[in-house]
Amino acid sequence: MSQKNNNRHNNQIIKKTRSLLIAGNWKMYKDHNEAYNLALTLKERLADISSIKVVICPSFTSLHTVSLALKGSSLLLGAQDVHWEKEGAFTGAISPLMLLLLGCRYVIIGHSERRNLFQETNKTINLKLKAVLKENLTPILCIGETLQEREKGNTELVIEDQLKGGLVDLPAEDVGKMVLAYEPVWAIGTGKTATPKQANDVHIFIRKKIEEKVGQEIAKNMSILYGGSVKPENAKDLLREPDIDGALVGGASLNEESFEKIVRSGIDLL
Ligand code: PGA
Repeated sequence: MSQKNNNRHNNQIIKKTRSLLIAGNWKMYKDHNEAYNLALTLKERLADISSIKVVICPSFTSLHTVSLALKGSSLLLGAQDVHWEKEGAFTGAISPLMLLLLGCRYVIIGHSERRNLFQETNKTINLKLKAVLKENLTPILCIGETLQEREKGNTELVIEDQLKGGLVDLPAEDVGKMVLAYEPVWAIGTGKTATPKQANDVHIFIRKKIEEKVGQEIAKNMSILYGGSVKPENAKDLLREPDIDGALVGGASLNEESFEKIVRSGIDLL
């Protein structure tokens, strides 16, 4: 049996080679008061966690109250989207610097809901990545195939295209500062999770493509999160996979108990 399979089947042996990151994407849920209260509760519940990076991504209107709630804790703040311009006549848009000044350290970019419902393209995603990196914020770039694309056998093609288009003209050094999130669209908010093996196989493919673009060292160190119906019941099996370095959690991050359980499921893998 190969080392990889051996790791998959022996719960006791595997230890993560990269540190784990668990991010909660609160989407368009929670007003700024509710978000403050949930952030405060999470800060208390996760006060002892230092070995796993935990990032909370509330909506724009809650960034300020959540940053106040998280003061003095190791939980980090992230935004769900950003515009690429620094400032100007862009009604409704938020710049990377505005996010930075509110205390954000991370920004989700290219989430499938942004791609599908708001017509985001690889080109605008590329502009956003460059703008965010310029302000020393860490982008969490989301990529993933639809059910139709998977059924046609096009998963790798789609992933390759999203990576190619999203990373145009980004120097290797900048690619090394990013976090990637593999989120199969068919698993988002549907209750259908990719099996740990299905997810890990795509993560291996993504890492290979990153290696081809920027070299082995950066690819080896890159955090690739899995997202799509991550729950307390499946988190450990997913996080145990050698190439899965964390999770981007939607629905289950809106409840303190389930989010805490997901974070804690990573602890004994470290
Ligand atoms: P889900 O969402 O966990 O509710 O499937 C994940 C995401 O959209 O990031």
